[in-house]
Amino acid sequence: MGSGTTAIEGLLAGFSVMGVEIDPFARLVSEVSTTLFCRDEIRTIREIYKAILVRFDSNEKSTSNLPALQNIAYWFTEQTLNDLLRLKSAIYAHCQVDSATLNFFRLVLADIIRPCSKAERQTLKPYISKKYIKTPAPVRETFQKSFENYIVAVRDFSEVVQNTDATFEWAGTNAVDFSTSLRADIAITSPPYLNALDYTRCIKMESSWAGCADDSVIRSVKNNQVGDESRKAGSDLNDALLDLINEYVTQIGETDPRRASITIQYFDDMRRNLSCVYNTLRNGGEYHLIVGNSVIRGIDVPTHEILAKIGEQLGFSWSAYFNYRIKDHRLSIPRNTNGGKIDIEHVITLKKL
Ligand SMILES: C[S@@+](CC[C@H](N)C(=O)[O-])C[C@H]1O[C@@H](n2cnc3c(N)ncnc32)[C@H](O)[C@@H]1O
Repeated sequence: MGSGTTAIEGLLAGFSVMGVEIDPFARLVSEVSTTLFCRDEIRTIREIYKAILVRFDSNEKSTSNLPALQNIAYWFTEQTLNDLLRLKSAIYAHCQVDSATLNFFRLVLADIIRPCSKAERQTLKPYISKKYIKTPAPVRETFQKSFENYIVAVRDFSEVVQNTDATFEWAGTNAVDFSTSLRADIAITSPPYLNALDYTRCIKMESSWAGCADDSVIRSVKNNQVGDESRKAGSDLNDALLDLINEYVTQIGETDPRRASITIQYFDDMRRNLSCVYNTLRNGGEYHLIVGNSVIRGIDVPTHEILAKIGEQLGFSWSAYFNYRIKDHRLSIPRNTNGGKIDIEHVITLKKL
């Protein structure tokens, strides 16, 4: 699911959508983005918003709301840390536990974390520049601005989707190990790439302030992320898969056995994902995958071709293919530097016969 872009478009087009996502913060973003709020609920959220600001001004706060993240104070000025704590305390004091309203405000809070922190805004991984000292944005005003943006987005989205039969539900958490009684006509993924970025760490500040993760959750989510370098090849590997990737992993293994093991595990994870999706699709259903190639230790690994062949081993037919050159790298997800720059993205379509 990532942040739910595809699900949002699916709902706007009137489809019933289901999603799978492992990162608790990404799940929160998707959850809020796909929830429908009626007019009365929007009015109530506005009332709660006013009460939150009043409570914020009263200066009450509870230190139990401080994220359980090592070095959290490093990222903020003392004033900002104090203000964020006041704001989070006010949000939790005015919203019901586990409510859609609380989730909405958790997301608005998360949205202001980067601008209010000392970290650069442009980099994906949190980083404080010593050369260019940033002035953190003020908490109250930034919250007000974000709130207005979010409430308008949620209201407009809800108004369009409310009059359709479109629905959203979760089909699972782990994309390499899920099963559901729901059936799909189309599945779409832009999976993490081999050598991909460490998403969990990029969003650790937002995630922890939103109450989605602490240090141990971040570690465990990271270890389950497809493509993460902590995932080394297991022992129960599929022989047909090994035959398919043998040529590449042998070459990678000559200079870097650890990377070769990560590569094997990546394709094994993707094989499990392809199998879960196969079981979820109706006959005639299609799985569309958007992937870039990876250059691992100088070896060009044609990821899309390998994934298509794994799909064929599982019973899919490789029915369509196109690629495009990435025009604006700022909009794409940067890869680990040792993965090389990815210029072309490939889209493959696998059909369940
Ligand atoms: C490239 S992003 C997807 C972006 C998405 N297409 C969008 O439009 O926002 C990859 C996503 O896969 C998720 N992910 C990685 N490993 C996963 C797993 N084992 N199960 C479920 N989701 C996983 C990551 O948390 C991340 O949100």
